[in-house]
Amino acid sequence: MANKSVTAIAHPNIALVKYWGKLETTLNLPATHSLSITLDKLETRTSVIFDPDLQQDQIKIAGHIAGTDFSARIRNCLDQLREQTASKLFAQVDTTNNFPTAAGLASSASGFAALITAANGALGAPLELRDLALLARQASGSAGRSLFGGYAIQHRGSKDDGSDSFAEQLYPAEHWPLEVVVAITNTARKTTSSSAGMLHTATSSPYWDNWMAQSDPDIAIAKAAIKTGDFTALAEISEASCMAMHAVMQAARPGLIYWNAATVDLIHLVRSMRASGIAVFFTIDAGPQLKAVCLPKDAAAVAAQLGSTPGVVETIHCQLGAGAHIVN
Ligand code: DP6
Repeated sequence: MANKSVTAIAHPNIALVKYWGKLETTLNLPATHSLSITLDKLETRTSVIFDPDLQQDQIKIAGHIAGTDFSARIRNCLDQLREQTASKLFAQVDTTNNFPTAAGLASSASGFAALITAANGALGAPLELRDLALLARQASGSAGRSLFGGYAIQHRGSKDDGSDSFAEQLYPAEHWPLEVVVAITNTARKTTSSSAGMLHTATSSPYWDNWMAQSDPDIAIAKAAIKTGDFTALAEISEASCMAMHAVMQAARPGLIYWNAATVDLIHLVRSMRASGIAVFFTIDAGPQLKAVCLPKDAAAVAAQLGSTPGVVETIHCQLGAGAHIVN
């Protein structure tokens, strides 16, 4: 089936146990397992129509015909989908984010989850969710997790063909409805993409092997904490995974640093709030924004304190969101 425009929405996800580094770049095999929560409010909305009259894919990002790296990655992802579905049709893609792009807010995760969901829908849904998760991983290592709402895991896998490196849902949001306050400290695009930063880290950081070896134990601790709703245990393992990811990249040569001064102030603030009894912890991705994960009862206090910190330009208060889904 073709010639039908399908629109999908996907939300960014925030990893509590981090993915950083690849075992292989063509299949995009992650060097670590990762575990995430999907957020509501922030969203990518993507429409796809396959059109027999097109001679190539036409990609619009935020309303503009795009010739960026990201549009090349979109074409590549559509090529994989065509290969798997034996489709020969090119697509018109229109994608928009309601939040800053490429600034450490997981826009590639929501972007590819929305693209794959819409494109599969526009072809008449030939692929199962597991196939979509494999395709999403190949497009971006964090994207498979955004196919799912609530809590998701991306398995590192051990097979060379990547067939066991997929994301799946661990729990729906209702299992433990944590909330997240995103503190935005700079909306500029980052100068080193995650992909480039990962490659640089793997090839030059002396801590690389230790980072990879920590993945199995960290995932096990985080899964146990989520299963029982142990906030303190989840706070400790999430902050440890975040700090270790930044440590391994900061030890690369030359060291990579995505934080700014406000990011560091926010780390101290979140830790002092937790010491004073507020149920909150932080995580930070490849960008200067800090995400404060908290219990619903503390979210208003967390948002107020983060929002009044110098250098914070905006806070966005999210609940856990749904997986990628078709909206028309
Ligand atoms: C820091 O999924 O953007 O957000 O696979 O190269 O597209 P590629 O990388 P990407 O990296 C995300 C890294 C992170 C941590 C995480 O989300 O687990």
